[in-house]
Amino acid sequence: MRPNSERQGTRGAQCCQGELVDRAGAIGHNAARMGPEPTPAEVARVEALRRQLAHHAHRYYTLDAPEISDAAYDALMRELAQLEAAFPGLLTADSPTQRVGGAVLEKFEKVPHRQQMLSLGNVFDDAEFTEFDERLRKALGVEAVPYVCEPKMDGLAIELVYQQGRFVQGSTRGDGVIGEDVTENLKTLKNLPLSLRGEGVPALLEVRGEVFIRKADFKRMNAQLRARGEEPFVNPRNSAAGSLRQLDSRVTASRPLSIYLYEVGVVDGATFATHVEKLAALEGWGLPVNPRRRVATGFAGVKEAWTALLAERHALPYEIDGLVVKVDRTDDRARLGQVSKSPRWAVAWKFPPEELETRVRKILVQVGRTGAITPLAELEPVFVGGVTVSRATLHNEDELRRKDVREGDWVFVRRAGDVIPEIVKVVTARRTGAEVPFVFPTSCPVCAAPVKRADEGAIARCTNRACPAQLAGRLRHFATRTAMDVDGLGDKLCEALVERALVSSVADLYRLTLPALTGLERMGEKSAQNLLDAIARSKQTTLRRFIYALGIPDVGEATAKALAEHFRDVDALLGASFDDLQRVKDIGPEMATSIRGFFDEPDNRAVVAQLLAAGVSPAPPELVTSGPFTGKTVVLTGTLITLTREAAKEAIERRGGKVSGSVSKKTDLLVAGEEAGSKLTKARELGVKVLTEAEFTALLG
Ligand code: IVH
Repeated sequence: MRPNSERQGTRGAQCCQGELVDRAGAIGHNAARMGPEPTPAEVARVEALRRQLAHHAHRYYTLDAPEISDAAYDALMRELAQLEAAFPGLLTADSPTQRVGGAVLEKFEKVPHRQQMLSLGNVFDDAEFTEFDERLRKALGVEAVPYVCEPKMDGLAIELVYQQGRFVQGSTRGDGVIGEDVTENLKTLKNLPLSLRGEGVPALLEVRGEVFIRKADFKRMNAQLRARGEEPFVNPRNSAAGSLRQLDSRVTASRPLSIYLYEVGVVDGATFATHVEKLAALEGWGLPVNPRRRVATGFAGVKEAWTALLAERHALPYEIDGLVVKVDRTDDRARLGQVSKSPRWAVAWKFPPEELETRVRKILVQVGRTGAITPLAELEPVFVGGVTVSRATLHNEDELRRKDVREGDWVFVRRAGDVIPEIVKVVTARRTGAEVPFVFPTSCPVCAAPVKRADEGAIARCTNRACPAQLAGRLRHFATRTAMDVDGLGDKLCEALVERALVSSVADLYRLTLPALTGLERMGEKSAQNLLDAIARSKQTTLRRFIYALGIPDVGEATAKALAEHFRDVDALLGASFDDLQRVKDIGPEMATSIRGFFDEPDNRAVVAQLLAAGVSPAPPELVTSGPFTGKTVVLTGTLITLTREAAKEAIERRGGKVSGSVSKKTDLLVAGEEAGSKLTKARELGVKVLTEAEFTALLG
């Protein structure tokens, strides 16, 4: 089954009314909120749209079995948003249009839980679980206890309150007695139903569960953050917790949070004889429940479930840290009761830690393409986080000093999510006294040139641009898939080309010959020809790939794209002044300095000239010549949430449209963000077509 999140793209783009609405929120015209009076047909249509949208969201996000296309779903959402915009009195707190967030709070209100939110005791091995199981068998007077086993989700616990089937409040666990009101943030979770469905919905339902981020969503989110130059999150758990505790719910809405429910608190109007029955009921009411749950009897059954889950751990789409074992029967639970903060009827059987002890064989230093010197620990291989780890980064000189890692040390190694393996800490108690502090090199281990640290930077660099390690790194980067995409030019080959002095700059790649290549170790005629073909093919490239391939310090793919779109030509970029560069989207003084500095180096200008002379021809980004904005005059008004005014203007211009400041008869389209005022009124008077932000972004594609 594909994780739901893989397809969140289009369904994330929903309309926004922005404005906060009261909580009472029954469907129907709210008299207190003046506005035009809807007809009974319009009221009925709003109700029908909400029912349909809830149904399709359930099919899509909870059952992973959509019945309609994303476009059809978006169209329903747009229609609802338009009706709500026209008749603000019809807007309710639980309308699906409200998922985009909008409320900005000063602080979170405290919420007392009607029933204490308990935590779980932990066991770590067979003996400890046997002890737990024996205690229960004795207390219940049975041979084998029927349990339900569930993955222990690594997120944060929350409680949802549904009254008459409507989601009215959501809170964090807090100290178990009093939590914090995060209702507005929870409403933005796409798989959290705003109203319950099905038979026998209780008048009051307090339901508890875990908010988490799927591994794939986490990766994607971090990649986006990195592309924007923002700090990525350390792990999914931290990012889920951080995202839910945002005072601005629009920030939460932009984060890919998911939820699974697994327990209930106070319930009025339903009873459950067993946990199995309870989870089935929750599912029947449309609540997302983890399908990975199983009934197990006694120690043997639970051990098997634990072992099976552990084996699956790394293949699961979310992070877990153990197996939760719960007594199935409600009457058994009541007999067992609780100790101060945790129930006697459940326990978390934790998995072995993802941090393992191993030994540092050696400390190496690597020289990257920009000369950056990175210390690296070579380890005795350990299996951690689903892979065998034999190297761990020590990041930089300061980090190495701070951790004081030495050759021969015993260390804890961790690998979390998509993060590269790292050393958590040294087990100093295991030192023999023979370990000596590592001396960071003052000269490059490859070319012996002096190593320097820029005034404030943590990174030490080799100062020789002709250093073979730097050159090999630049070649590798140049050839990489998202740069010039030279198939077959890997690390080893780059090193060999540099070592044999076959290349002294990336431009030399285009001068390689068959005899030169076949002279290399393990290089047959066929692979040599393949490589030459791949190099020749790379000449036809795009400007953004070309700029990225140059390896300008700090210029990643996103910046290369922005530069290509702005300058559209190599010469224009080469001639751009510091001020010109700062006019490019997302480029600040630091980046402008770095780019200008790069092109001021005669060597770099020479390489660019040689590349072009060799026939490399970077094509400028295509201008869209026909589309919804071509030849149109567009006016932007109100506050746009998903993009800045500048970005919206640029996007329209790139599509051949013109952006104007005022509405007139010549205006073709008005994009109305939040709190649009007189321009919107004027556009309506003149019969100018008005787009909501969601409609606008949909047209941008
Ligand atoms: S039941 C009374 N079930 O683990 C039992 N908890 O260490 C209350 N957790 O605070 C919790 N997955 O945040 C339960 N399937 C699961 C769980 C789970 C994760 C978390 C939850 C709780 C913590 C206790």
